[in-house]
Amino acid sequence: MPIQSGVLVISLVLMAVVAGFFISAVRASRKPDTGAPREAVRTRFIYALLAVGVIVTAVSLRPWPHAISAANGPSATVNVTGAMWYWEIDRETVPLGVPVIFNARTTDVTHGFGVMDSQDRLLFQTQAMPGYVNQVEHVFRQPGVYRIVCMEYCGIAHHAMTNEFTVAAAN
Ligand code: CUA
Repeated sequence: MPIQSGVLVISLVLMAVVAGFFISAVRASRKPDTGAPREAVRTRFIYALLAVGVIVTAVSLRPWPHAISAANGPSATVNVTGAMWYWEIDRETVPLGVPVIFNARTTDVTHGFGVMDSQDRLLFQTQAMPGYVNQVEHVFRQPGVYRIVCMEYCGIAHHAMTNEFTVAAAN
C-alpha cells in the first residue's frame, strides 16, 4: 500500500522534527534568558510552525474521504439483508479484483455484517441497522469461498447466522 507507507514515513519524519524541537526547547530553557530578541524569534517560529501545520493539513487531507467506489473501472454491488437468524445475499458470486460495494440491511434488529476469508480471518465488517443501509467496499484479491457471519449478538441463534459467497474472476 504505497499511500499508507508514504503517510507512515511523513508521520515519522514529523514526529522526529517535533522531538527535535522539544529537545532544543529543553536545552534552551537551561540557558539564562537574554530577553527580548529571543522572544521575537520565538513568535516568528510559532507563526512559521502554524503556517506549516495549515499547509500540511490542507495538502494531506485533500484526497479524503475517498469516494465509496472507484471513480472509473468496473465495480459490483451486493445487497445483503440480515434477519434472525440468517443472511440473505442477492448474488452467489462476486468478481475478483474490482471494488465490491456491500449494502447491508436488516429486517428486524441490529446485526453485524462481517466477512471472513477461507482461513476464518475477518476481512471487514459493518453494522446492519434498522432503517439504514450501511455500505462497505472491499476488493477481493483471492478467489474462493467467503463466509458471512454476524458480529453482533442478536439472540439465541446468533452464532448460526451465516451464509457464504464465491469470489471468482469476472468474465
Ligand atoms: Cu445477527 Cu447476531
